[in-house]
Amino acid sequence: MYVQQMTMLLLRKTVPTAGRTKYCRLFSASQTHLNDRKGLVLGAFEKEGEEAGLHLTEAAARFDQNTSGKLSELLKISGPTLKKGRSRIFYGIHKDFPCVAVVGLGKTSAGVCGSENWDTSKENIRQAASVGCRLLQDLELNHVEVDGCGDAQSAAEGAALGLFQYDELKSKKKTKVTTQLHGSSDSVGWQKGVKYADGQNLARLLMEAPANHITPTAFANTIEERMATYSERVTINKRSQAWIEQQQMGAFLSVSRGSEEPPVFLELHYNGSPDGKQAPLLLVGKGITFDSGGISLKPSPSMDAMRADMGGAATVCASIVTAAALKLPINIVGLAPLCENMPSGKATKPGDVVTAKNGKTIQVDNTDAEGRLVLADALCYGHTFNPRAIVNVATLTGAMDVALGSAATGVFTNSDWLWEQLHKASVVTGDRVWRMPLFQHYTRQVTDSQLADLNNIGKYSRSGGACTAAAFLREFVSAPHWAHLDIAGVMSNKDEVPYLRKGMSGRPTRTLVEFAAGLANSG
Ligand code: BES
Ligand code: ZN
Ligand code: ZN
Repeated sequence: MYVQQMTMLLLRKTVPTAGRTKYCRLFSASQTHLNDRKGLVLGAFEKEGEEAGLHLTEAAARFDQNTSGKLSELLKISGPTLKKGRSRIFYGIHKDFPCVAVVGLGKTSAGVCGSENWDTSKENIRQAASVGCRLLQDLELNHVEVDGCGDAQSAAEGAALGLFQYDELKSKKKTKVTTQLHGSSDSVGWQKGVKYADGQNLARLLMEAPANHITPTAFANTIEERMATYSERVTINKRSQAWIEQQQMGAFLSVSRGSEEPPVFLELHYNGSPDGKQAPLLLVGKGITFDSGGISLKPSPSMDAMRADMGGAATVCASIVTAAALKLPINIVGLAPLCENMPSGKATKPGDVVTAKNGKTIQVDNTDAEGRLVLADALCYGHTFNPRAIVNVATLTGAMDVALGSAATGVFTNSDWLWEQLHKASVVTGDRVWRMPLFQHYTRQVTDSQLADLNNIGKYSRSGGACTAAAFLREFVSAPHWAHLDIAGVMSNKDEVPYLRKGMSGRPTRTLVEFAAGLANSG
């Protein structure tokens, strides 16, 4: 009888939706209010070696004890051994948790994988927490407790990233779910994970939002609002068009010229270091709030995705908000040249020559290669802060997507030290980076211009497009530690990253935060 009753409890499909909370429960619905039903996500590792079966996490094992072995019993009879990322839901086995999701965590021994360049255990925990939370969200639970699975930070990241959905503009919204760590004392790790994920979710929100909502002005205002909580350590300047003109940022202005929306040059200062004079880390993000291509107009299909062409600015600003939330002991300057790239009677025309802030002239042969123009001026200006390192982030080239797809952000850098720092950070976050070349070979292709010092596209058309774009940016850098991150390939997610829903990804915000945290620790 016992097994029969429990089999009923297992199978959602056999339970009519309307009656789900009424029947088939060991604990009755009267014990919980429908509108504050609590869920629980637990993890289960696969047994090592030949042996089949599951190895429950500490929290799951404790839960199993508290339910007199019901959990393990149900897991056994409900189907094959839970593989990584696969899940089961059990109803009514505990009075505090009407719905319990158990998710497979893969092998206990996974750890850092040399060939994958990430920590597989952390990735598995992120995936499991996200799968479990989403299942319970679909059941319209408002509160979910999550097994720390031995790494509360990763569990929190998975939970908060997995639950994120941009539905601000829809009438029907997903259930808002609050989360809490279950069965672990590592609340510090959990809180840290929540902050990392909130940072990435802020970048996702900015990237996903339509371009008529997130204009340059609205972008800057949103960041200002998010920074308000940390006002004692943060200053923010929203520089106007007049300021940009004063600065002689002719390359930036050549892009903004075609649009009716005024450009904004956003400047953030986070002063977290106890040494106020410590040289800052400089982060620069491409902030094209919509890239139509300008006069070199893009084709219509998928043009809507170009609302996320401010992904560099979004991830950079979100990582500074997160650094402030974490109180990282480091100084950071963030710069975001924000504007639209639009065609109009005032727009820059192919063949026009513009002058950047450092006096270099640029022949603009393709107005769709606009990211490098706005970054050129921002990089020139950024050097005035004497930064210890410069990292710029940009959805710069379609060629980057062709090269690596969404597996990793491409990193072009003149510094082995900076590469090491970024790579180390990305192994921890699972939001990977891959080093790309900065050969003179590519420099020659952008310095050969008929009318000016530089051409904004490589002379062999699309070949090596990500590399010629990087070579172009390098012409505006004199600092010894500079890295350019091309994030065009990781801009959006279909289903490649299992703990992110379909949509703009907010990558690599967590890697930038982890990188800044690493620099902060090294003094
Ligand atoms: N914003 C695009 C790059 C992009 C493409 C980002 C797809 C994300 C997804 C950029 O401004 C651009 O259009 N680049 C051109 C450069 C070319 C004209 C040399 C490109 O990649 O086609
Ligand atoms: Zn473009
Ligand atoms: Zn662009």
